[in-house]
Amino acid sequence: MRHFYSLNEFTSDEIERFLQRALYFKSRPYLNILAQKQFALLFLDPSLRTRCSFEVAVRQLGGGVTTLEGQALWKIETELGTRMDRDKAEHVREAMGVLSRYFDGLGLRAFARGERKQEDLLDETFSAFMESAKIPVFNMESAVYHPCQAMADLLTIRELLESFKGRKITIVWATHPRPLAMAVPNSILLGTTLVGMDVTLAHPPGFELQEGILAMARDFAKRSGGKLRVVSGREEAARDAEVVYAKAWGGLGRYDDPQREAELRLANSHWIVDTSFMDLTRRAYFMHCLPVRRNVVVSDAVIDSKQSVIFRQAENRLHAQKAILEWIYA
Ligand code: CP
Repeated sequence: MRHFYSLNEFTSDEIERFLQRALYFKSRPYLNILAQKQFALLFLDPSLRTRCSFEVAVRQLGGGVTTLEGQALWKIETELGTRMDRDKAEHVREAMGVLSRYFDGLGLRAFARGERKQEDLLDETFSAFMESAKIPVFNMESAVYHPCQAMADLLTIRELLESFKGRKITIVWATHPRPLAMAVPNSILLGTTLVGMDVTLAHPPGFELQEGILAMARDFAKRSGGKLRVVSGREEAARDAEVVYAKAWGGLGRYDDPQREAELRLANSHWIVDTSFMDLTRRAYFMHCLPVRRNVVVSDAVIDSKQSVIFRQAENRLHAQKAILEWIYA
């Protein structure tokens, strides 16, 4: 039984195979490889793209799919050994034990809760579901990783640039009214360093990614012949980029001093990707995983420009996820 949890569990050759299979599925949307397989998609948090692309992917591959919304289920306890005398009526052990009797695989979305630092940084909620499952679990975005998004993003970059080695991408922080999780920047950082890109990660002080992820990305860059530099200046971040990947995320300070973190986030509201930023690049493609706040994260002029590839990215979720589902059952 194989779970699909994070891109860092794969080599660059394995990622390459996923991308080749995704391109194959892109050219042949209907293939009956999941006939007689039933899937549950469990969303503890909202979704548009992940939900629709997985539902369509499973159906086009001949499988059955049931989508479960967290708020319509019994509230699920994930801690072991706890006395369940409060609002949570069902333990993850029973929930996953039961779902494992009905389904052949389960996709789970469980964002960072933003309450306990350890719970989020160690991906404890997602891990509790995965460890209680008797069927493969695939990650539809956890507190730490969004590997399906990153796989689709790599597919998009491959299509546009035709290669990875030495190609320049800037992953740039943007402000946001809420302290969003780091799953997307973590995953695109790991994915792009794994395949040998020349990566610039740009954010103001106070919005550092977790050290374990940065250490992994540095190691990937070293092994793949890629590069990783972390900068805090917008202009140096933009210069010569071939791809600009914008994303808002909250600082780790949110756990210790949420008020200070919010002040810092708002104080950096000039970190928007606008035409003045894009003009410094090498006519870069603009990428974002969506949903995105227009004129907060990116200006209308940039997101609506010819360089914006947001719909290609969203479409590629469908093809990349078929390759992932195929791998799980290979
Ligand atoms: N990019 C992404 O995962 O979109 P949704 O949150 O709408 O699924």
